[in-house]
Amino acid sequence: MQNLALQITLILIGVLLACFAWVLSRSRTSVAIDQIAPKAYRLRSKLFWLVIVGGSLIAITTLYPWPHDAYASKVSRHIDVKARQWSWELSSQEVKVGEVIEFRVTSEDVNHGFGLYNESKQLLVQIQAMPGFTNKVRYHFEHPGKYEILCLEYCGVAHHGMVAEITVTPNILH
Ligand code: CUA
Repeated sequence: MQNLALQITLILIGVLLACFAWVLSRSRTSVAIDQIAPKAYRLRSKLFWLVIVGGSLIAITTLYPWPHDAYASKVSRHIDVKARQWSWELSSQEVKVGEVIEFRVTSEDVNHGFGLYNESKQLLVQIQAMPGFTNKVRYHFEHPGKYEILCLEYCGVAHHGMVAEITVTPNILH
């Protein structure tokens, strides 16, 4: 998908450059366009507004809902997360299916990386754990199971041992 988008972009850039080159090669003298070609001038005005309105509509419909804050207003509760060499301290390790959890992540020593994984070892969300800062990341738990938190930033000799578990249990209301 990304390769296709890149190829289309490159082709369109090429077409645009060719248009510019063609116009440049034919523009020895400057003449006001609305005098020599009133039809083309009107067409250009229409195209201008078409691009503005069409571009805005495409941007709004494809960027909505804003993925980075999709759950901001739906947070069920938060879990405090403290990282340290070499373990995680969580204020809760039990979650019910359907809950939107806001993880408030900080570190007591060096930088760590908070990475939440599901049972298939897929990375779901991640954020930096930094001393002196509390970084927030939200996740909507839709499936029961054992989730894992792994450290994503090399933080010393036992970095690989920074693992914590979150148990997600079915919610009878869902
Ligand atoms: Cu903590 Cu790597």
